[in-house]
This record gives sequence, C-alpha cells and structure tokens, in this order.
Amino acid sequence: MTSAIRTQVGIIGGGPSGLLLSQLLHLRGIDNVVLEKHAREYVLGRIRAGVLEHGFAELMREAQAGERMDREGQIHEGFFIAHEGGQERIDLHALTGGKTVMVYGQTELTRDLYEARDRLGGKVIHNAEGVQLHEIDSAHPSLTYRQGSETRRIDCDFIVGCDGFHGVSRQSIPKEKIQTFEKIFPFGWLGVLSRTPPVSSELIYANHERGFALCSLRSSALSRYYIQVPLSDTVEEWSDERFFDELKHRLPAEVASSMVTGPSIEKSIAPLRSFVVEPMRYGNLFLAGDAAHIVPPTGARGLNTAGSDIYYLYHALVDHYSSGDDRGLESYSSRALGRVWKGQRFSWWMTKLLHRFPDDSPYDRRLQQTDLAYLFSSQRALASLAENYVGLPF
Ligand code: FAD
Ligand code: PHB
Repeated sequence: MTSAIRTQVGIIGGGPSGLLLSQLLHLRGIDNVVLEKHAREYVLGRIRAGVLEHGFAELMREAQAGERMDREGQIHEGFFIAHEGGQERIDLHALTGGKTVMVYGQTELTRDLYEARDRLGGKVIHNAEGVQLHEIDSAHPSLTYRQGSETRRIDCDFIVGCDGFHGVSRQSIPKEKIQTFEKIFPFGWLGVLSRTPPVSSELIYANHERGFALCSLRSSALSRYYIQVPLSDTVEEWSDERFFDELKHRLPAEVASSMVTGPSIEKSIAPLRSFVVEPMRYGNLFLAGDAAHIVPPTGARGLNTAGSDIYYLYHALVDHYSSGDDRGLESYSSRALGRVWKGQRFSWWMTKLLHRFPDDSPYDRRLQQTDLAYLFSSQRALASLAENYVGLPF
C-alpha cells in the first residue's frame, strides 16, 4: 500500500546540508520534506567538522539557528603550523583584514538545526529506508521510501540530494551523464575526542617525520586531536595511551609537555579522499554537500563548501518560487563547482604540505620543506593561505 504526499522540494539527507536548506526554504515559505535514513541520535553521534567560516556562520544566523553558536562558539583569529621542532602562527585576522573563523562542532550545529526545524514544525522523517528517486529528468519527480511495512511516496517539483558521499542521489544519475574526479590518499586520520582542557587555545597543525598531527578543540574542557595513520590501522590497535604517546611525539616539546591526557569519549579513523562530480544537477535533481564532493579535512573545507552549495541553491529556489526566475537554478552547478574546485585545490595543497606520503622521495621531502620555508618567508603566501582558510567569498 502506498500513501502519497506533495511538497515543493524533497530533500534527501538530514545532515547539516539538508537541515540547513530545509530551514532556510521553510523561512521563505517554500514547503519541503527531509528524508533521513538514520535516527536523530545516530546523526548526532558523528563527530566531524569543527571549524566554520564566516559565511557558514551567517547562514546559520539567517536560518534562525545561530543563537547557541554565537554564545558558545569560539572566534579564532589564528592558528599554528608546527614543523622542525617549533611552531609559527598564522594570524588570520591580520592577514585577511579582520576575518576570523568560528570553532563550533558539527554535532552541536546539527543539534541546533534539528531544534530549529522542530520549532517551526519542519517535516524531517527519520528512519526512511530504501529511499528511491523517480523521474528525476521530468517536471514531476518523486521519492519513495519505506517506513515499517508501508511504502510512502512524495511528489515534488525538485529533489535535492544532501545524502553525503555514500547516499543514493548521486547514484541515481545515469553514469554517462556525469563525470567523477577522485584522488584517494594513502593514509587516514585517527581522531580522538577527550574531556580534557585543550593543549592550545588555537589549533596546531603539525608536520612531523612520524606523520601529521592536529590539535583542535570543541570547548575549554573538550579536546579534539588527530594523527595521520596508515589505512590498514584499526581503532582497536590504538589504546588511548598509545594515541597520546604518538601525538606528543609529533608536537614541539614545549607543547607536548603541557598536554593533559585523559580517556577518549570517541575514537574513529577517517580515510582521506578528494572527490568531485560534475555537473551537480541532473534534470530536477540537484546535488549539494558531500553528495557531490569530498575533501581531505586538512583545510577544514568540507562543511564550509557544503554551506556555499546551500547558499546558491537556496537563493536559486527562492528566485524560482518568488518570481519565476530560473537563472539561479540554471547556473547552480557551474557557480557551485567554481568554489568547490577552489576548496579542492586548497585542501590538496594543505594535505600535501603537512603529511608524510609513504612514497615520497628525498626530492619530494625537500620540496615540502621548501614550501613551508617559502610560506613563512612571504607575507603574500601567508595571505593566500589565510584567505582560503577563512573562506573565499560565495
Ligand atoms: P553528511 O554530513 O554526510 O550528511 C548526509 C546525511 O544523509 C546523513 O545524515 C546520512 O545518514 C543521510 N543519508 C545517507 N544516505 C541516505 C539515504 N540513502 N537516504 C536518506 N538519507 C541518507 N568540514 C569543515 O568544513 N570543517 C572541518 O573542520 C571539518 N572537519 C572534518 C573532520 C573529519 C574527521 C571529517 C570526517 C570531516 C570533516 N569535515 C569538515 C567535513 C564535514 O564533516 C562534511 O563535509 C559534512 O558532514 C557534509 O555535510 P552533508 O550534510 O553534506 O553530508
Ligand atoms: C576538528 O576540530 O575536527 C577539525 C579542525 C580543523 C580541521 C579538521 C578538523 O582542519
């Protein structure tokens, strides 16, 4: 038995991209439904991004979901790059003429978006199993999904795929209609969240002969640390003690000596990948966020690039419904991809600058050292790094 409802925009995926778009559209009177495969607690259990650019924070405010972020998030004016036993500060504020980033966890941000959706009575359907897209190249696309023993249908004008890298949306586009670009890095990041005071009030990205390390944070009492590990490693092989020993090894001595360690609350390994699909539209299906592109987390671009997709798509849909102006929808893919590729370039460069690649020759290593030496000898090179890190204009 199939029951059907109608909406204007059907959104697949209740991660940050889907929820943000849903909330923004709702506030402009555009009816929409979000289909999320998992339970809310599961989505909120994933520890991911920590650094938000100004444009993303602005979108959260426009979505009326920025209050707690503005109260509890930390404004960061700079970060450190550690190498050769010392560390040097990137003064984001000075190098960009006053721009900064916000440190606020993706988990908290997603929680705020769910609460904002609840307040407005937004339609977010959890545990939507077996989502399928139908007639996406027609003017009448639809979605079906299962809930318990019942199959339900949603008829809509547009479908937006916000269902992440492993989602169903991108896979529903005929293979010959899209081109994919991919780079898989030969290592992953082992991440630990621990209820300990962060070793540094600003992030430290470390290039070390044993591999990359990152000291990040969620609050004055919650630390988030990462180390580069081989893809063959498993979480079980990394006790908390081994993790912190290795992390300390990769940091300047004065940083390591002041580190407070404690039991991990979460520990996971994320593989590093770069991926882009072109175009980001097929018929009346639009892709946004990780469904269309992935970056290694080194440049903190993933969620932020998802934010610029949502910005373009939100405005394009508002123009369509308010004045029948479809120019934004027509240009969505090319506009979004312009910024996506700049995020890809920056993330690739930061990754190459800071990690140890197993196949690197002594020549490659010298080039990496020279890249770092050049960076810290040139205000223009530093300004370029800072401009990308705080986020290029939408
Ligand atoms: P997702 O968060 O993947 O959400 C997709 C949603 O769709 C999920 O809830 C999923 O359950 C649902 N879904 C999947 N398939 C289906 C289906 N078939 N049907 C229905 N629902 C489905 N980015 C930054 O900008 N800054 C950072 O500092 C940063 N740090 C990171 C650190 C790590 C360790 C990692 C792994 C990532 C980091 N990122 C960072 C990247 C960031 O987390 C992602 O870019 C972001 O989650 C993308 O959001 P999204 O909503 O597009 O996709
Ligand atoms: C994080 O805090 O999780 C984080 C911060 C910066 C990055 C990646 C992840 O580049």
